[in-house]
Amino acid sequence: MILLIVFMLIFPYNIQAKIGTFWHVTDLHYDVNYTTSGSRDKMCWNQATRSEDGAGSASPGQFGDYECDAPLSLVMSAVQAMANLHPKPDFVLWTGDDTAHVADSYFNTNKVVDIVGALTSILNQSFPTTPFFPILGNHDYYPKNQFPLGKSDLQTQVADLWRSWLTKIPYTSFQADGRYWADVQGTNVTIVALNTLLWYKSNDNTAFLPDSDPNGADPGKHFAWADEVLRKLSARKRRVYIIGHIPPGKFERYQQTKEGFHWFQPRYNDRFIQMIQNHSDVIEAQFFAHHHTDSFRLFFKDQHEHDPGSPVSYLLVAPAVTPWRSTLSPETGANNPAVRLISFDTVTGKLTEVSTYYLDLGNANTQGKADWKLLYNFTTAYGLSSVSPSSLYNLAKNLKTNTTMFERYYRANTVGLENSTACSSQCNLLHWCAITEVDYTRFSKCNTNGVTSSLWGATTTTSVLASAVLWLLLSS
Ligand SMILES: *[C@@H]1O[C@H](CO)[C@@H](O)[C@H](O)[C@H]1NC(C)=O
Ligand SMILES: *[C@@H]1O[C@H](CO)[C@@H](O)[C@H](O)[C@H]1NC(C)=O
Ligand SMILES: *[C@@H]1O[C@H](CO)[C@@H](O)[C@H](O)[C@H]1NC(C)=O
Ligand SMILES: *[C@@H]1O[C@H](CO)[C@@H](O)[C@H](O)[C@H]1NC(C)=O
Ligand SMILES: *[C@@H]1O[C@H](CO)[C@@H](O)[C@H](O)[C@H]1NC(C)=O
Ligand SMILES: *[C@@H]1O[C@H](CO)[C@@H](O)[C@H](O)[C@H]1NC(C)=O
Ligand SMILES: *[C@@H]1O[C@H](CO)[C@@H](O)[C@H](O)[C@H]1NC(C)=O
Ligand SMILES: [Zn+2]
Ligand SMILES: [Zn+2]
Repeated sequence: MILLIVFMLIFPYNIQAKIGTFWHVTDLHYDVNYTTSGSRDKMCWNQATRSEDGAGSASPGQFGDYECDAPLSLVMSAVQAMANLHPKPDFVLWTGDDTAHVADSYFNTNKVVDIVGALTSILNQSFPTTPFFPILGNHDYYPKNQFPLGKSDLQTQVADLWRSWLTKIPYTSFQADGRYWADVQGTNVTIVALNTLLWYKSNDNTAFLPDSDPNGADPGKHFAWADEVLRKLSARKRRVYIIGHIPPGKFERYQQTKEGFHWFQPRYNDRFIQMIQNHSDVIEAQFFAHHHTDSFRLFFKDQHEHDPGSPVSYLLVAPAVTPWRSTLSPETGANNPAVRLISFDTVTGKLTEVSTYYLDLGNANTQGKADWKLLYNFTTAYGLSSVSPSSLYNLAKNLKTNTTMFERYYRANTVGLENSTACSSQCNLLHWCAITEVDYTRFSKCNTNGVTSSLWGATTTTSVLASAVLWLLLSS
């Protein structure tokens, strides 16, 4: 007894330290109209239901199709896999995009709310006593992308669906502005849920307002809110997990132009970077979605000086449940369905492991059985002793030079669908620039091999040749 007390006095933190876990599930894009008798180039809908595309080929799979969004069977199998693999997490992050990639004409506010409600009840049935920290994506508004400043019917209805997950202050805050912060009970972690939809270049409520308009400079005073919240959490010595749907910076898979492709309006991207720099001491990690791919981003003390000591924050982009092939450009591609389990130290908030589980969709459809498996463990695959801004900066540098390491990253990027033979040296540089240069101007300077649209055909030929050579080298 005395020994125990002495021990507790000497190692108070070690006694309390515990490894907690949470699931990050995102971009389910549940399509209520998916049918195996539908056609692939019509989102796997029945021909008669969706008429705007060309003639279709038949037989989409039982668990989904790379050309389409998630059928109910895929949604159910993902959530059941989470419950089977790890039924008692400390909490779940659910970062939005609940509806299918189809025209607004198929939706209205009630239909969007119904789909959010259906997913809410499926998730809640498998995790009835687990705290959830949910937010909405750009597809969870009618019309899509047009999330408004201030209250809306949709927010109120969704806040009511989520009432048991959002305690009083988060409920009010979410209902009013689509954002909130909340402590994770029994840990030093606080979730700060941002409403990134206000910073989206396709949101006509904010994108074109002049800087002189207060809602142009800082829509919904969102940066001012985050600044105040982060200051208070710092004073309370909390460890913050920032969560959001749309990430800052450039998309790591878009090869059409040297400037790349981004979602935030430039002025909001700049302020986002400043916000992270100003508060990096209290921010432990950031968890985002929307890309449907698996990647990460780094923030530096000074975006212009990337010395070894200067990475101050990192952001993990989680892969999607939907396998849907992006229509942005041919190379952006599809992915296998994924869900992600994260282990963390409840005292320091530091991540100890990021385990990505996936469904090989092709196999599942062939076998008529959904067998979710571990795709990879982050620290093991990348040989990291910890997950931190500096270890991820070293990893990024390794990805540039070490082909074995890059193969692992690139395979994970599409959740085991593509291998790095599909990625030329130009594509490799693009990933490096997207990961290390969240600033748009710096990205364009970094992405020196970037092509213009007119060169795309020629470069594709070159990269096919380069891939062929690499494939020969690797297979020998
Ligand atoms: C599903 O298809 C029906 C029939 O065409 C259509 O009326 C409805 O809007 C679609 N629903 C969704 C959510 O896409
Ligand atoms: C989840 O299920 C529990 C138990 O049935 C219920 O009390 C709670 O309201 C549900 N929460 C949500 C968000 O559906
Ligand atoms: C929070 O961290 C402090 C050390 O900074 C530790 O003493 C305390 O036990 C932690 N609280 C919880 C709930 O883990
Ligand atoms: C970051 O801090 C600087 C200096 O205090 C301030 O001018 C700027 O507005 C802050 N940026 C954000 C986004 O909070
Ligand atoms: C991967 O990490 C999980 C913790 O999330 C652990 O339980 C499992 O044993 C690890 N598996 C491998 C193959 O490293
Ligand atoms: C590249 O990474 C692999 C896998 O971590 C490692 O085994 C190998 O030693 C590395 N190669 C070099 C040249 O660093
Ligand atoms: C890489 O992908 C290509 C195209 O899908 C495939 O033909 C090849 O077998 C794959 N190589 C490896 C090593 O998996
Ligand atoms: Zn999405
Ligand atoms: Zn999205």
